[in-house]
Amino acid sequence: MTIFISCMDVIRTVFAYIIEYLTIKEMAVATVILSNDNIKVKVPIGMTLREVAQKTGASMEFGCRVGDCTTCIAYVDEGMQYLNEINQKEIKALEMLNMDSGQLRLMCQCHVVSEEGEIVISYQTSC
Ligand code: FES
Repeated sequence: MTIFISCMDVIRTVFAYIIEYLTIKEMAVATVILSNDNIKVKVPIGMTLREVAQKTGASMEFGCRVGDCTTCIAYVDEGMQYLNEINQKEIKALEMLNMDSGQLRLMCQCHVVSEEGEIVISYQTSC
């Protein structure tokens, strides 16, 4: 009986992810490519790249999720103009790491701001 309940929980969780994924696709307005995982997905304006990574099952690593730990630092290879402006938390984090802010962003702090274009991200993976 316990095994049956566990299987049902797994099935419910899988369906929830599928529904969320399909919802993202239906609301599609911008394209995000998570290059390390070969994921290409359409996403709505306002969605953070952390949300995109987590909803699509990308192997990107996250820590605090509020811009303090820098675990989610990643390169925006293309499409920086389709993301929000870099914020003070990101600037402070990049200064602490002594890294150039030209191409680097914290995935938990940036979100899609344009309906057009393609955003290509590369990052460290958890694998
Ligand atoms: S997860 Fe900690 S800075 Fe993004």
